[in-house]
Amino acid sequence: MGILLKEVSFGYGDKRILDKVSLAVREKEHIGILGCSGGGKSTLLKLLSGLYTVKEGYCEVEGETKPEGIRKQVAMVMQTPGVFPLSIRENITCGHPISEEKVWEAVQAAQLEEWVRSLPEGLDSLVEERGSNLSGGQAQRIAIARAIAKDAPVVLLDEPTSALDGETADALLRAMEPLTKGKTVIHVTHREETIQGYDRILVLREGKLFEKESL
Ligand SMILES: Nc1ncnc2c1ncn2[C@@H]1O[C@H](COP(=O)(O)OP(=O)(O)O)[C@@H](O)[C@H]1O
Ligand SMILES: [Mg+2]
Repeated sequence: MGILLKEVSFGYGDKRILDKVSLAVREKEHIGILGCSGGGKSTLLKLLSGLYTVKEGYCEVEGETKPEGIRKQVAMVMQTPGVFPLSIRENITCGHPISEEKVWEAVQAAQLEEWVRSLPEGLDSLVEERGSNLSGGQAQRIAIARAIAKDAPVVLLDEPTSALDGETADALLRAMEPLTKGKTVIHVTHREETIQGYDRILVLREGKLFEKESL
């Protein structure tokens, strides 16, 4: 299992963003990806998460090749957290039948427990439109709790700490440890220290992926 990309090309309109990208990620391998802004890192993760369809080349994630199948195998945390005007609980379960116990486990792992318990309505507290009643760190932790609760074999992280200040970002990285442990991980970042200890670091440049050492 894991991830296999063979000569995947992708673009928007006439603009080619990914140029015959090939990548094999073993099960439970941790891969960091660096690269300039606008280089196509988010596009690559959207293909790997089944948000976009691969039309040129081959993409397999946990044995799945269709976007609908791939989506079930992947949990993604993006740069800006998608939180919805629903309860904290619904933001975490996304309507899936996840037990109360699992929700609390995810809340605890994402280091949200103390805050949620301090709210009069607890897990039933409402998140406002675009998370305007939350701090950036709290919103991102809800996204992390959602990814933990999904318990998917593949975790994709798209600069999850880039919108946060240094201290909040460091705390968030610790909250992500339970999310990435024992999973296949691809973490896009511009802060190299956040992917220290990863199995491999790659760089996306001019539509191609390179091993960092070979640059
Ligand atoms: N939905 C889209 N439609 C058209 N162009 C896009 C779209 N998404 C991204 N792009 C363009 O594709 C390029 C790569 O974007 P992106 O994958 O977000 O790069 P990165 O995440 O490395 O900053 C950029 O030039 C960006 O403007
Ligand atoms: Mg991006």
